[in-house]
Amino acid sequence: MSEEIKAAPIRNGTVIDHITSGQALNVLKILGVNENTIDSTVIVVMHVYSKKLESGWKDVVKIEDRELDQNTVDKIALIAPQATIVIIRDYYVANKFKVDIGNHVVGLAICSNPDCITNKGEPIEPEFDVISKNPPVLRCMYCERKLTNISDNLL
Ligand SMILES: Nc1ncnc2c1ncn2[C@@H]1O[C@H](COP(=O)(O)OP(=O)(O)OP(=O)(O)O)[C@@H](O)[C@H]1O
Ligand SMILES: [Mg+2]
Ligand SMILES: [Zn+2]
Repeated sequence: MSEEIKAAPIRNGTVIDHITSGQALNVLKILGVNENTIDSTVIVVMHVYSKKLESGWKDVVKIEDRELDQNTVDKIALIAPQATIVIIRDYYVANKFKVDIGNHVVGLAICSNPDCITNKGEPIEPEFDVISKNPPVLRCMYCERKLTNISDNLL
């Protein structure tokens, strides 16, 4: 059964489609949705069939009355590199684009190495090379440590 049948349409807002299966809750974290901040309807669909994703499964998040800034979209790319951002206006798809992790990540995540210069209180922004896009693997430009648990190290 498709996600369209499982989730009601929204009038205005954003659909985050083709999320790597299992990452929907991390997407909610990036969106900052929690018991204190939620102020519009959020629909979360996990583990629905997708012919687009290799695994065959995806998650989908739909948030009413919200459009995402670039910083938020870039963070989603770090945990769900195949995600599609769909802007809904008056029930229709007004705009649709793929997230793009790029080759280089600046200022979105912190290095997981406590001894890294970027964690020593110096005014140095963390920077990473993207060494794999799917699954996303980042390597710190300063200490070369690979960032494994990206969702727990987002800024
Ligand atoms: N009014 C709406 N409310 C909620 N979700 C919507 C609405 N309109 C479209 N969507 C969702 O937005 C996504 C993109 O819609 P679209 O009609 O472009 O689907 P599609 O043809 O499957 O696109 P794609 O090729 O990107 O998978 C789908 O997940 C669809 O369920
Ligand atoms: Mg589709
Ligand atoms: Zn580092």
